[in-house]
Amino acid sequence: MNQQKIGTKCVQAGYTPGNGEPRQIPIIQSTTFKYDTSEDMGKLFDLEASGYFYTRLQNPTNDYVAAKIAALEGGTAAMLTSSGQAANFFALFNICENGSHIVASSSIYGGTFNLIAVTMAKMGIDVTFVSPDSTEEELNAAFKDNTRAVFGETIANPALTVLDIEKFAKAAHEHGVPLIVDNTFPTPVNCRPIEWGADIVTHSTTKYMDGHGAAVGGVIVDSGKFDWMAHADKFPGLTTPDESYHGIVYAEKFGQEGAFITKCTAQLMRDFGCIQSPQNAFLLNLGLESLHVRMPKHVENGLAVAKFLESQDKVLKVSYPGLESDKYYELAKKYLPNGGCGVVSFELAGGRAAAESFMKKLRLAAIETHVADARTCCLNPATSTHRQLTDEQLEAAGIPAGLIRMSCGLEDKEDLIADIANALA
Ligand SMILES: Cc1ncc(COP(=O)(O)O)c(C=O)c1O
Repeated sequence: MNQQKIGTKCVQAGYTPGNGEPRQIPIIQSTTFKYDTSEDMGKLFDLEASGYFYTRLQNPTNDYVAAKIAALEGGTAAMLTSSGQAANFFALFNICENGSHIVASSSIYGGTFNLIAVTMAKMGIDVTFVSPDSTEEELNAAFKDNTRAVFGETIANPALTVLDIEKFAKAAHEHGVPLIVDNTFPTPVNCRPIEWGADIVTHSTTKYMDGHGAAVGGVIVDSGKFDWMAHADKFPGLTTPDESYHGIVYAEKFGQEGAFITKCTAQLMRDFGCIQSPQNAFLLNLGLESLHVRMPKHVENGLAVAKFLESQDKVLKVSYPGLESDKYYELAKKYLPNGGCGVVSFELAGGRAAAESFMKKLRLAAIETHVADARTCCLNPATSTHRQLTDEQLEAAGIPAGLIRMSCGLEDKEDLIADIANALA
């Protein structure tokens, strides 16, 4: 299966119907599952057998789709979550606890920044934010004895910085911890972080994977490559007995390939219940079936819009890693040879007021708290998604108050450019 190309996996991976079975993945709209004997069910509760007993933890529809995304990212196991926020929280909290420390890129989605800097801090989990442009020395200096994970976004929302995945992976591994990469913007069609050394990959599937603004969701993919046992003292949750499952040791029983996702399902999904609904998983799968066809069009439109904006006097700066003038062009050539995504950030002369007036005049591009949709949309992060950040934090994340983030959809690029030209005029 893994020899297949990405498009074939988008269409076919994860679910292979048997003779006479539904061609499309079935939506198993059932909270619970029936067993003939208590012994049968007991084996599931003991993690002795695999199967389903309650949709708060696992559902077959979700697992078909998770298996497809694992195949796309080149991972060994995956699980769907109710949102991208839940995916990032679970990915971190599965290996962090009160007293742990995280090294995170400062250039990440505002919601994730808040999750780590504010909410996880209340749980006693500390963070050091580092510039995505940190040198190896600067990165190494951020680690502490209690560091348990490194976190970054392949292409950051909304600053569009490109993470040097190999550099961050090297630093993480030298300190005996995994690198977690949020790969929402490029999707596995344009970048597969595991191939560059990432250990865990997350997504807000709400974005390009769904692609139609229809279903909120998230996913966590494990590469199966991180050796938890080699760093057993750092990850007791994976390497010592779990008394809530009769003393099993995840890393021993499920190995490197399965331990992370099994623990995350058995403990965090059990206790927090942030499961994706099977209906949403079905919609997500419809989006995935055309992901490899849609991504090149998003990239084509993003690049055309970025080039047009760059030629305009009223535009102070355009960030799009595919532009030769962009600071991240070289990293993009390395990690994103087929292009990154359809999201372009730019700063208008005249700051916040100019940005607001420009956005009001757009006819095709709608003002939305969203990106990565088939329909073009835009927003001003400082007054919306990132309004919880102080000016210093905005600065550190590379987000000026007059910045507009435009997510180029699947329309014809000539119409998008005409809409922008009209609003600028
Ligand atoms: C890169 C990235 N990660 C995570 C999230 C959170 O995802 P969700 O909105 O599905 O919870 C977002 C949302 O915009 C995002 O852009």
